[in-house]
Amino acid sequence: MQLPFPLAQEPDEPTIELGRKLFAGDTEFVKGVVAMDGLPPADRLEVCFAGRSNVGKSSLINALTGRKGLARASNTPGRTQEINFFTQGPDLFLVDLPGYGYAEAPVAVVAKWQRLLRAYLSGRQTLRRAFVLIDARHGVKAVDEEIMTLLDQSAVTFQVVMTKCDKKAAAVLDKTLDQVRAALAKHPAAYPEIVATSAEKGEGIATLRAIIAALD
Ligand code: GTP
Ligand code: MG
Repeated sequence: MQLPFPLAQEPDEPTIELGRKLFAGDTEFVKGVVAMDGLPPADRLEVCFAGRSNVGKSSLINALTGRKGLARASNTPGRTQEINFFTQGPDLFLVDLPGYGYAEAPVAVVAKWQRLLRAYLSGRQTLRRAFVLIDARHGVKAVDEEIMTLLDQSAVTFQVVMTKCDKKAAAVLDKTLDQVRAALAKHPAAYPEIVATSAEKGEGIATLRAIIAALD
């Protein structure tokens, strides 16, 4: 039986507190990686943030860590072109992936990102979960399907995080959610809960912190 992919319940108070504590710890930029041999040692738990260009990956990392401007957020799509590693406390890497699906990027550049992304997602032993960000206004697009299929093939559990929920009325969000659920039903690696967030307003941020803190 296929699960209906509900929105994540607010975690219990102790788990929220774990998340708060984890993200109250120090955040540091480690490095931007452009090739597999540049990856930092896989010596701790890791989560990554994937999504189309401009979906709000960097903004979400900034909101989680409470560090404005840590992961560059910009209006220029395709700006994050490296795999950016951050430490969150001593035991966790946060990974900001290059945005995909930016139509105006040169073909050769896109191909290079895709190779790197593919190699990273399939080869990283410590990668515990991928968060696939979906814009609350747009739903799942073909390029998102591609990354989800890649995650299926790599056996990396992925969880959908809806972004920019402040930009949409509840009714519109519900409609997007139905489209997302239908898409997720086709992906064996999809985690059965969706998180609704707004990096701008803070919605869902404590929940996502708790979800990450509860991973082991
Ligand atoms: P790339 O690095 O190019 O792949 O983009 P990204 O996914 O990191 O997106 P980024 O965080 O740079 O955000 C893109 C734009 O969306 C910026 O103008 C942000 O201010 C805006 N944005 C991000 N999150 C939110 C949100 O929750 N609400 C609103 N209203 N705007 C947001
Ligand atoms: Mg970015």
